[in-house]
Amino acid sequence: MSKVLVRPLKDGPYEVRGTVDLVGPDGTTQETTEDIYLCRCGHSANKPFCDGTHKKTGFQAPGWTRPSSRG
Ligand code: FES
Repeated sequence: MSKVLVRPLKDGPYEVRGTVDLVGPDGTTQETTEDIYLCRCGHSANKPFCDGTHKKTGFQAPGWTRPSSRG
């Protein structure tokens, strides 16, 4: 089993890198085959996926930032 990376993007969704089993509220499972973006603003019309609506709503939240190379 390989590691999966989940990280919040600044003012946007959670980025999920790696293959995961995504279970819906009805119990159906969908295996992802590419990176996915999960809504964390609550306004997507395509939940659980981000559809870009966070940009229109002005959603603000901290996000992961790449560590400085200067240490
Ligand atoms: S985070 Fe993008 S639509 Fe919610």
